[in-house]
Order: sequence, then structure tokens, then C-alpha cells
Amino acid sequence: MNKVVLVTGANSGIGLALCERLLSQDTEGLQLCLACRNMCRAQAARSALLTSHPTAQVALLQLDTSSISSVISAAQEVKLRYNRLDYLYLNAGIMPNPKFDVQAFLKGIFSRNIITMFATGKGILTQKDSVTSDDLQEIFATNIFGHFLLIRELEPILCQAGKTSQLIWTSSSNAHRSAFNLEDIQHQRGTQPYSSSKYASDLLSLALNTHFNKQGLYSSVICPGFVMTNLTHGILPCFPAFLWTLLMPVFWLIRIFTNTFTLTPYNGAEALFWLFKQKPQSLDPQAKYHSLTSGLGKNYTQPRKMDVDLETSEALYDKLLKLESEVRKYLKEKQKSTRASSHFRT
Ligand SMILES: NC(=O)c1ccc[n+]([C@@H]2O[C@H](COP(=O)([O-])OP(=O)(O)OC[C@H]3O[C@@H](n4cnc5c(N)ncnc54)[C@H](OP(=O)(O)O)[C@@H]3O)[C@@H](O)[C@H]2O)c1
Repeated sequence: MNKVVLVTGANSGIGLALCERLLSQDTEGLQLCLACRNMCRAQAARSALLTSHPTAQVALLQLDTSSISSVISAAQEVKLRYNRLDYLYLNAGIMPNPKFDVQAFLKGIFSRNIITMFATGKGILTQKDSVTSDDLQEIFATNIFGHFLLIRELEPILCQAGKTSQLIWTSSSNAHRSAFNLEDIQHQRGTQPYSSSKYASDLLSLALNTHFNKQGLYSSVICPGFVMTNLTHGILPCFPAFLWTLLMPVFWLIRIFTNTFTLTPYNGAEALFWLFKQKPQSLDPQAKYHSLTSGLGKNYTQPRKMDVDLETSEALYDKLLKLESEVRKYLKEKQKSTRASSHFRT
């Protein structure tokens, strides 16, 4: 039986590296679906994968996780194409307008927190968020809510009697409880919407396990480590790509002290790939699975306890369900008014 695997944000970075790794281990038994917002970039990724794996089954799906209508129509398309979904990788993510806090960085360098600062980016990264056309905070909508809605829409093909399916979130070590506020889940009022959204994914994964394990659906989170991708290049947008390359020896040096500097998308995808091969029942719902690379360049996956609790995860889950029902109401009204205006035009 073919396994159906859907990866969001599959056209670049860690998502694309995961697809390459999955096909390298098994070309025949996989139906891979690349869910991307930009179809030109998606097509280029598909062509690259087919160049190295000409017989692979690689399909494309248009999905913009920041747009409610896009998520709903993508989910409908998936349900038409596939009877079931074995793996759903919730990987698409953004960190727009990041600001590197030089002062906090210099302070961190001369403090006891230097390793934590390098390993997690804690305290040195802020972002400026914007609002989507659905009136949601963009980072929250892209990284969390769009994925939540996608899972809800795909429930019938994820939860099937006698079968298991896996949800696998690309979270981050930058997910900090201190950046998250249950009274402001979209992070409208803070300066760390990325960290908040990643912490929310950790909480949500725990809640999904509570609600869906009995139906054969399991959720896990990973951290890819610090990887050089479009997302990280955006941290210093004035920094040309070759300067990042020049910095590589420094990063290799740092890797001796913190194995979270995985650096390449291939290494960063280690935990995503490792989870593909695990029995989901054997995984710890309170652990984050870290892609790590040793100073000698050896890749491995290590679970580390997350700073999450059941009570907060349930509270977030309830809030997401409430937001989902508001969003569905808003969609219905929008459809009604579009129908009415087209009726008046005829
Ligand atoms: N790089 C790191 O060091 C690091 C560390 C921790 C966690 N992460 C997480 O790893 C994941 C992958 O990021 P990456 O580092 O591989 O960066 P990347 O190369 O920029 O990949 C991000 C992917 O997400 C897609 N995406 C963004 N917004 C989307 C939307 N609204 N709808 C659908 N797809 C969308 C991007 O598509 P486009 O090409 O169209 O933009 C791209 O394919 C993210 O969730 C990120 O937060 C990365």
C-alpha cells in the first residue's frame, strides 16, 4: 500500500529537504503531495525532485496557510484526491520583518546565557506582524491557525478505524512560554509573534494528542535547529548570501559547543525524517524532537521535554475551536453577500 504524505511549505528549505530524504529512502511506496502557496516555486521543486527520482509520484497542491478560503479549498481537493492521509507535515512558516536586537546580543555574549541565546535565539529576535485579508494576525494565521483548520477539514481522511496517521509540526527552540499569552493568542500586542506561534504549535500538538489518539491520529513537534534557509537569511536582509557562506566556519565552530547548529536543510530535516520511521504510539506527546548535528557532522534526533502543560493546551484548543466557528460564520456571510451582489448584477 502506498503511503500518502502531504508537506506544507515543501518548495524550499527544510520542507524540500524532507521530501528529498523521503524519496531517497522509498520512491515506490510513497505518494508525495507538495502543498505550496506559489505554484511556480512548487513546480520547480517538483522538477528537482523528479530529476533525482524520475519514477516518484509527486503531486502539487495550491495552499496558502494564511488564507482561510485557500485552506478550505485545498482540503476539499485533498479529500477528492486521496482516501486517506498517512502523514501530514505542518511545516510552512514565516518570520517576516525580523529585527536583530544587537544590544541584547552583545549583552548575551557576556552573560551565562550565551549558549541558550545561540541555541534558541531567545531575546535577540523580534518581528513586526501584519494583518491578513481575513483580519487575522499573519504569523498566527500562517504558522498555526491555517494548519489547525487544515487538520480539522482533513479529519475524515486522517482518522480512520484500524489505521494510524501522524501530524508532524516544524516548531522551533524559539518557542518560549514567556512570548505566549492565552488572552492574546494571535500576539496582537507583543513583539515576538513568531516565538508565540511556535509555542502555540507545541501546546496544540499536545491537545491534539489528547483529543485524537483514540481515533488513531498522533501529533509530534520537532525543532530543526539553526538552518540556513530563506527564513534565516531574512534575519539580516541586507546581508548578501555569500556573506552568510563566509560565516559558515564560525558556525561550524559554534557547533562544537551547541549541536543545534544543524546549518543545512538536509540536517535540519533529520527529526522530521526520523519521525516518519517511528511507531507513533511510542512517541512522547510532551517531547520536542530535535534535529541535532555533532561537531564532527553526525546527525541524530533527540527528544527533549517541552515546557507545556495540559491545562494551557486545552485552553488554547478551546480558543482555536471558538475562532474556527467564528471564521466559518464569517465565511458563510461572505459567500451569502457575494451571491447577493452577483444576483443584483444579473
Ligand atoms: N531555518 C531555521 O533555522 C528554522 C528554525 C526553527 C524552525 N524553523 C521552521 O522551519 C519551517 C520551514 O522553514 P525554512 O527554514 O525551511 O524556511 P523557508 O525556506 O522559507 O521555507 C518556508 C516554507 O513555508 C512556505 N510558506 C510560507 N508562508 C506560507 C503560506 N502562507 N502558505 C503556504 N506556504 C507558506 C514557504 O513558501 P514560499 O517559498 O512561497 O515563501 C516555504 O516553502 C518553518 O515553519 C520555520 O518556522 C526554521
